[in-house]
Amino acid sequence: MKTKLHLLILSFAILLLSGSCNKQGKNTPPEDKMTEKKIDALLRQMTLEEKVGQMNQYSGWVDTTGPNFGDKNIFEEIKKGWVGSVLNITGTENVRMIQHMAVDCTRLHIPLIFGLDVIHGYRTIFPVPLAEACSWDLEAIEQGARIAATEASSAGINWTFAPMVDIARDPRWGRIMEGAGEDPYLGSLVAAARVKGFQGNDLSADNTIVACAKHYAAYGAAEGGRDYNTVDISERTLRDVYLRPFKAAAEAGCGTFMNSFNEIGGIPSTGNSHLLRDILKCEWNFRGFVVSDWGSVGEMINHGVAANKADAAALAATAGCDMDMESRCYREELVNLVRQGKVDMKYIDDAVRRILRIKFQLGLFDDPYRYCNPEREKNLILHPDHLKAAKEMAIKSMVLLRNEGNILPLKKSGQTIALIGPLAASKDDMIGGWSALGQGNDAVSLYEGLTAKLGNASRIVYARGCGIAEENRTGFQEAINAVRKADVILLAMGESRHMSGEASSRACIDLPGVQEDLIKEIIKLGKPTVLVLFNGRPLVIPWIAEHVPAILEAWFPGIRGGEAIADILFGDAVPSGKLVTTFPHSIGQIPLYYNHKNTGRPYSPDSYYTSRYLDETNDPLFPFGYGLSYTTFAYSGLQLSDSVMTGNKPLTVTVTVTNTGNYDAEEVVQLYVRDMVGSVTRPVKELKGFKKVPIKKGESVKVSFTLTEADLRFYDINMNFVSEPGEFRVYAGGNSRDVLEGSFWLK
Ligand code: GLC
Repeated sequence: MKTKLHLLILSFAILLLSGSCNKQGKNTPPEDKMTEKKIDALLRQMTLEEKVGQMNQYSGWVDTTGPNFGDKNIFEEIKKGWVGSVLNITGTENVRMIQHMAVDCTRLHIPLIFGLDVIHGYRTIFPVPLAEACSWDLEAIEQGARIAATEASSAGINWTFAPMVDIARDPRWGRIMEGAGEDPYLGSLVAAARVKGFQGNDLSADNTIVACAKHYAAYGAAEGGRDYNTVDISERTLRDVYLRPFKAAAEAGCGTFMNSFNEIGGIPSTGNSHLLRDILKCEWNFRGFVVSDWGSVGEMINHGVAANKADAAALAATAGCDMDMESRCYREELVNLVRQGKVDMKYIDDAVRRILRIKFQLGLFDDPYRYCNPEREKNLILHPDHLKAAKEMAIKSMVLLRNEGNILPLKKSGQTIALIGPLAASKDDMIGGWSALGQGNDAVSLYEGLTAKLGNASRIVYARGCGIAEENRTGFQEAINAVRKADVILLAMGESRHMSGEASSRACIDLPGVQEDLIKEIIKLGKPTVLVLFNGRPLVIPWIAEHVPAILEAWFPGIRGGEAIADILFGDAVPSGKLVTTFPHSIGQIPLYYNHKNTGRPYSPDSYYTSRYLDETNDPLFPFGYGLSYTTFAYSGLQLSDSVMTGNKPLTVTVTVTNTGNYDAEEVVQLYVRDMVGSVTRPVKELKGFKKVPIKKGESVKVSFTLTEADLRFYDINMNFVSEPGEFRVYAGGNSRDVLEGSFWLK
């Protein structure tokens, strides 16, 4: 009996060590077994060189999204079978030409997979992902990804490096723009929605593309908010916060992951077998493949964990990084490393199996030119239905931060409107960063949106006033003259599209340049003033938030942004967005997020010895979940179906929401929970549910949520993912601050 048990333990250990963790067998769907047989047959034919070729990815010429590591003859490399994938090559003609080299000129005719950063649209550009998340509309988010996949796949692309699912608590970090904000619960739902949107129900269909959850992992926790910087967090924080959206993406069937540039606690993600093998490939049973980020294999030399490219290649391949994007370390070193016995062939076979599996699932072996139909490309790109959806998402994603005296919505006729600011007439900035094949010329600026809506009904006097990040004030006078002539002032201010995204961290996150100075001059004139903000991150705007009566957060609203903003400003749409990232009062408060710990000395105005600043509040300027409407909502009657939750009996939480204003509108009703006592410290609030609910003016609706024991689980003192009996508080409201409170006990 003992021998049998030992054998069982030994075989599991070998399975784990083999790095495959492919739990084949009884639970593998029949079609996968057919694919696995085809992969087995192909692997048996492949030389070591051909296998390493599959693990090598080069960038093409349509875009360059990373540093240049020297010239390569990509065509010759493909024909010799040294390339498994290319990125940044698009268009059915280009893709057909390149695919031909792989399929017709190589010995085994293995097709390439074509990747591109289709982050928030291919040519029909949607609002940036941070904006989309502020819609809290998962169906609309999934639809946006579906449309992006439809257009990208019509242009030869079958793999997107999205969704970016990094939790971000530091707005200095430019890549906060690419994700879904600071909350793991919302981030997980958005991750799954985007994966489903990109991948659809059938990866082999010609309008679906394989997704890529990135950047695995904890890239958003970079010290100082500085891109690529050091991350040092506990395993508990890693799992409770940063890994949750990645797990959700894996559970949604995401076909690929991209490892991040950063280290975690001294180990770069590219060479982190705990992250790539123990958690992703074994614990989560992930059967797709991991691609490195651009050059990140070779960058382990800079990290100081590899002395040279050979060390870096060995470390990455052994740890579970299956494909090397652009560093050439695998291409130049892996064959020798295997021949010298320094890298076990099993890691190569596992990586190639995973890559081939995705290529089979995409249908590329059945028809390598499936994504090369010029008719589809012509008919689908910039389709009117896509443009309409992009506008609708823009409307849903905007957040009304202030509306003192109900200045908004504005009257459409009989007014002179001064339109001031460097973003007023900008088309380029509407599409934000990471906008794939998006073109500024396709976009509608705010100026164009206003003129299209108002025609001659009102007069628009435009003055740029100043640049985005320049110190030049010579345009101030023209702006002030325009303001003097006007009944109402529309300010279009913020960041340029290049001030967020990759390698775009900012140490100072107020309005750049002299924009705030111009606002102060204009406010002195005492006219009704509305600020429309264009930005890719929360900004530090305390003076503006106090003195500008109406503020609409438009983010980078995409290809129909100007029209969407005009609809909201003039009441043809009612704002319904809610913040997914905290706006701090000052940069000194960062990191500042709603689901923080209580500490042993939580802030108290009655105590000197308390967690606070001498010179700043602890409170945010605008909290997570915050957003106004043109109407108002009142919350009442928070009720729980029981005061005790037993293991398998869920609780129902109900709250009444009344539309107490003059507009039919939508409200994002939010449910938070607090675990009062745990074996480890627990956040003061955690989002556990939300519903975006249409409520007619004067109406009251009861909104119910189901809470289960599983919703209360976390990593306990022993790192077990469990719930613990005890008291829980429940909160319901229209943001994370202004809430009704209840409580229950978990037995
Ligand atoms: C970039 C980014 C990553 C992107 C990749 C390919 O460096 O970090 O998000 O997908 O390279 O463009």
